[in-house]
Amino acid sequence: MARAFDAPHVLNIADLRRLAKRRVPRIVFDYIDGGADGEVTLRENCRVFDDVMFRPRNAVAIPTIDLRTRVLGAELALPFLLAPVGSSRMFYPRGEVVAARAAGKAGTGYILSTLSGTRVDEVKAGTTGPVWYQVYLVGGRDVALAGIERARACGCTALVVTIDTAVAGMRERDFKNGTKELLTRRPFTMLPYVHQFLARPWWLAGFLRDGGTMSFPNVVLPDGPMSYADVGAALEKSTVSWDDLEWIRSAWKGPLVVKGVLVGDDARRAVDEGADAIVVSNHGGRQLDGVYPTLRALPEVVTAAKGRTEVLFDGGIRRGADVAKALAMGARAALIGRAYAYGLGAGGEAGVTRAIQILRADLIRTLKLLGCASVADLNASHVTVPADWQRT
Ligand code: FNR
Repeated sequence: MARAFDAPHVLNIADLRRLAKRRVPRIVFDYIDGGADGEVTLRENCRVFDDVMFRPRNAVAIPTIDLRTRVLGAELALPFLLAPVGSSRMFYPRGEVVAARAAGKAGTGYILSTLSGTRVDEVKAGTTGPVWYQVYLVGGRDVALAGIERARACGCTALVVTIDTAVAGMRERDFKNGTKELLTRRPFTMLPYVHQFLARPWWLAGFLRDGGTMSFPNVVLPDGPMSYADVGAALEKSTVSWDDLEWIRSAWKGPLVVKGVLVGDDARRAVDEGADAIVVSNHGGRQLDGVYPTLRALPEVVTAAKGRTEVLFDGGIRRGADVAKALAMGARAALIGRAYAYGLGAGGEAGVTRAIQILRADLIRTLKLLGCASVADLNASHVTVPADWQRT
């Protein structure tokens, strides 16, 4: 299986995307690939990297490039981590464990979404790398607190609070593929959409062997793990506010990360509430459509953070050069979402490993061509950023 992901078949993340599209049912592929409403922000997140150009120092020979990065006091072998991606178990059997294991083997971290199909302690036990737990308040504070407690007990080293999910974004592809109808579990309502699964028999066999219909074992309600049907409504009832953040800060003594910061005001507020890191993120264009692409938002947030907190970055990363641009513009490290999710959908651990390898090799080549020996040395002088991107 692993050889199927070698060059020349798989040279870049777009190749993994193509393979994922072939292996998983349309509803699963579109869940990974899609964005909110007209998908303007989704497209811009990727396109905007073209607006930033490199400024290399040539005639520099660097035999080895140092990609090591310190994030929240821990050293990672790479300047990127795997972002929280809910329901990864739909992409591949035990998807969360598989992705975390690949991250660990590459020397980097994995962030587990609250809305995952695998228990946090199983994910932690399955990897040698750090695991962070991303918290939604679905089910209310007591339910979230029990989840935080389980994350702490099994050794998760940071808590990530996502603040951009006041309601679930309107992902039209999910509706068109029958997500709502399939969740009714009524045979006649489901019937028009079932062919998607039958068209992908290998995926279906793996999914059924893995237990079939998912629930959310990290959201333990009084009557057991939250079922798959409840997500949209549960998110709407559990919007995270700054008051909650104060409460979470008191409930979790370890490193706290606030994910979903796009403007300077929110960056300052997150720092005031005790965030040890913030993630410049628009949820991969899955929430508010028409919002700034994240690279465009990065300078304002970096300026507002003024070195008082670590700034992480995600959105649109499909090449190692994208990571290099974000780091040169002031991010400490990046998170990758779809880039590894495509790999997971394409072929489990081998696919995620290949996604990481691609970005790693891209980064090494990019830094060599930039004449920059380490990611720690990347700075504003290595890129040209459009003048109107900085806001005070
Ligand atoms: C996400 N993302 C996300 N974020 C989060 O905080 N909790 C979650 O449960 C999820 N779930 C999720 C599912 C899927 C299928 C995707 C693609 C994304 C957002 C994710 O963490 C990250 O912010 C984006 O994926 C970054 O953009 P790229 O790298 O996908 O372009």
